[in-house]
Amino acid sequence: DWTMAEFRAAKIAEIRAQVGDGKVICGLSGGVDSAVAAVLIHEAIGDQLTCVFVDHGLMRLGEAEQVVSLFREHYGIPLVHVDAEAQFLGGLAGLTDPEAKRKFIGGAFIELFEAEAKKIGGADFLAQGTLYPDVIESVSFTGGPSVTIKSHHNVGGLPERMNMQLVEPLRELFKDEVRVLGKELGLPDAFVGRHPFPGPGLAIRIPGEVTKERCDILRKADFIYLDEIRRAGLYDAIWQAFAVLLPVRTVGVMGDHRTYDNVCALRAVTSTDGMTADIYPFDAAFLARCATRIVNEVQGINRVVYDYTSKPPGTIEWE
Ligand code: XMP
Repeated sequence: DWTMAEFRAAKIAEIRAQVGDGKVICGLSGGVDSAVAAVLIHEAIGDQLTCVFVDHGLMRLGEAEQVVSLFREHYGIPLVHVDAEAQFLGGLAGLTDPEAKRKFIGGAFIELFEAEAKKIGGADFLAQGTLYPDVIESVSFTGGPSVTIKSHHNVGGLPERMNMQLVEPLRELFKDEVRVLGKELGLPDAFVGRHPFPGPGLAIRIPGEVTKERCDILRKADFIYLDEIRRAGLYDAIWQAFAVLLPVRTVGVMGDHRTYDNVCALRAVTSTDGMTADIYPFDAAFLARCATRIVNEVQGINRVVYDYTSKPPGTIEWE
């Protein structure tokens, strides 16, 4: 039978054969997939690989710093850190349509990558942590007609424009297999076990217009929610949990004051591959604790709701 150790060795040979003495550029998103792909490719070809972390300012609290330190300090893998918050937030200003937001973000990534590739004298290959479900969902929805549900910015588009070949060593794998491979490659358990995080980041968790102020509000709420989940020992039982900042304000009362502030939705699902999902059945006291903390500690939110929709018919992300 096919063990991960064998998969690792086979992929390393495959990457070497594909790449030869060419140069590879790899985009890190902060997620497990691109990190595992990068570490595997680094093991295969060493410093022929350049990793680029495009920090779009749409990461969670402290996340950008964690990614940079993991790669530079823990692995000694050279990493270009591009601070592009102003560019992304500038371009997102005024955009409210979910696909328009995704398309802008995908396009901005291409431009930043092109610029970074030029700086290293051009790259022959583009590496991505694309998984099997990413491939399927960007083409058609399982069993249904061929419709794009969401444009995943890490699939397609990039290589044609950049005149590079793709290196996608995880293309046949599901998430649980990527985690096994990550452990095999020596990535820390806490990193390998991280919940998935979408390439477009918080932009697709802020329905409506994305602003720096709304990102900051969402980061605080999300941090509290995940903190409560960790304290309750539930993190590893959940596939993905996150907060969403809704473009709706409602009336509330704090002390003897009327408030008129944003609604925050909490989402948590179980899944094995992200293609279908069930809601996580928190007990009521847990959700009440999260709601109380978020309303008390986050200025700008005065109401918290829990999303009870499975996938299908909902998707995991709200956009
Ligand atoms: P949906 O919302 O389609 O999400 O049910 C399924 C899984 O995919 C993640 N997701 C993305 N991952 N780029 C990514 O790398 C994307 O554009 C993207 N959109 C959604 C989502 O977080 C969930 O795990």
